[in-house]
Amino acid sequence: MSAEQSREIVNKFNQPAWPFQKMVAMVTGGGRGIGRAIVEELFQKGYSVIIADYSIDAAAEEFVAELNKQSITPEHRFVKCEKLDVTDGAAAVALVEKIIAEHGQLDVLVNNAGVTKDGLLMRMSEADWDFVIDTNLKGVYNVTKAAIRPMMSQKRGKIINIASVVALTGNPGQANYCASKAGVIGFTKSIAKEIAVRGITVNAVAPGFIETDMTRKLSDTQREAMLALVPLKRAGQPEDIARVVSFLASPSADYVTGQTLVVDGGMAM
Ligand code: NAI
Repeated sequence: MSAEQSREIVNKFNQPAWPFQKMVAMVTGGGRGIGRAIVEELFQKGYSVIIADYSIDAAAEEFVAELNKQSITPEHRFVKCEKLDVTDGAAAVALVEKIIAEHGQLDVLVNNAGVTKDGLLMRMSEADWDFVIDTNLKGVYNVTKAAIRPMMSQKRGKIINIASVVALTGNPGQANYCASKAGVIGFTKSIAKEIAVRGITVNAVAPGFIETDMTRKLSDTQREAMLALVPLKRAGQPEDIARVVSFLASPSADYVTGQTLVVDGGMAM
C-alpha cells in the first residue's frame, strides 16, 4: 500500500460521522481534567456533548464557548454544561429526561466524575469512606440507571466507566478509592451482561498516573515513585485516556463489552 493510500484510510477513519448521523454523549465530571479531554475528543469526532458536572467554573465555560465556535450548525453539534451532582439519583434522572426531551437521544454515557480522600485505614473516617464511595461508585449507579432507560428503548448505547489501575493493584492510603474503582469494574461486567441483548455495550477504562488536578496534589517524591513504575517513562496525559474512550464509544468497538482497558504506560502488566 502506498503512503498516499494509507493516509487516505487514516483520514477516512478520522472523519466525524456528523453531519450524516447525529450522536449525543454525556460526560460526567467533564468540566476539567480527563473529563474535559474526553469532551473535546468526542466533540471533534462529531458528537454533541453534555458536560454534567457539579462545578462548572469560568475556565470550563470558556472551553465550551471555544468548542461551540467550531460548530457550523450549533443546533446539531454543540457542547453544553449542565449542573449535576452524581450522588443525587433524582437529579440524574431529571437530567437524562431533559436531554431526551431536548435532543431526542442519548448515545454515549461516560461516567468520569471521581474524587479522592486519601488516608491510611487506621485514620480514615467514615465520612471520608462514604464521600469517595458515594461519588465514585454510587454516582456510577445513579447515572447509569438513569441513562439505560432511553438507551434500552433506542436499542443502542455505549457506556464507558472510568475506573483506575489501582482497582487492580491496590494502593496504600487509598482503600476507599481502590474499593470504589474495583466496584466500578464489577458493576461494568454485570451491567454489560444485563443489557447486551439491548445492543448496549458497557466497558471500563482504567487509567494509570495521569497529569490532572487530582494528581497535582501529590508531592514530588510520590510523583517520582509513581513514574519509576511506568515502563513508558512518562506520566499519561488526559488525551491518552480520551482517545481510548473515543474508540470504545465508536462503532469500531461494537463487539467489545464488559472489558476493562488499562491505559497506564505499562505500569500494571
Ligand atoms: P479531576 O479532579 O481533575 O476532575 C474530576 C471532575 O469530576 C471535576 O470536574 C469535578 O468537578 C467532577 N466531580 C467530582 N465530584 C462530582 C460529583 N459528585 N458530581 C459531578 N461531578 C463531580 O480528576 P481527573 O484526574 O480528571 O479524574 C477523572 C476520573 O479519572 C476520575 O474518576 C478519577 O478517579 C479517574 N482517574 C484519574 C487518574 C489520574 O491519575 N488523574 C488515574 C485513574 C483514574
